[in-house]
Amino acid sequence: MSTEHTFDVAAIEFIIAQRKTMPGALLPILHDIQSAVGFIPPSMVPAIADGLNLSRAEVHGVITYYHFFRQHPAGKHVVQICRAEACQARGCESLVDHAKELLGCDFHEITDDGKFSLEVVYCLGQCASGPAIQIDDDLYARVSNEKFNRLIQAKRGVQ
Ligand code: FES
Repeated sequence: MSTEHTFDVAAIEFIIAQRKTMPGALLPILHDIQSAVGFIPPSMVPAIADGLNLSRAEVHGVITYYHFFRQHPAGKHVVQICRAEACQARGCESLVDHAKELLGCDFHEITDDGKFSLEVVYCLGQCASGPAIQIDDDLYARVSNEKFNRLIQAKRGVQ
């Protein structure tokens, strides 16, 4: 898959200009950029760093530290699997293995058909009912391998 992606540079520059003087602006800026264009384009890291008077390494370090931030566009549907403690106790690791096999991709990757991104998340607020996942804006609890298959199949049917 090509690593060149198009995005709205002006929108990102506007976000940086709008927020750069606020204290602790880096995280809000990164959130706003991902919300606006779907990911944090690596080529915009110098502009973010310059705007905030930070080094590029500092900005890059924050982007890579937080699993939430993507450095490439997401698939059509974003599948997040909770891997925090309560879901671990309820067997999420076997669901993780199953999801990777079914989708044919690892965390932070996109399926070959571009339909799904697989992401890890640490708590979805469904701790008593794990394993929990989120697909796009919808939360699902007590997700067995079979339930996961059904959910993915349903999304595959939706264009
Ligand atoms: S630990 Fe998974 S939802 Fe809270």
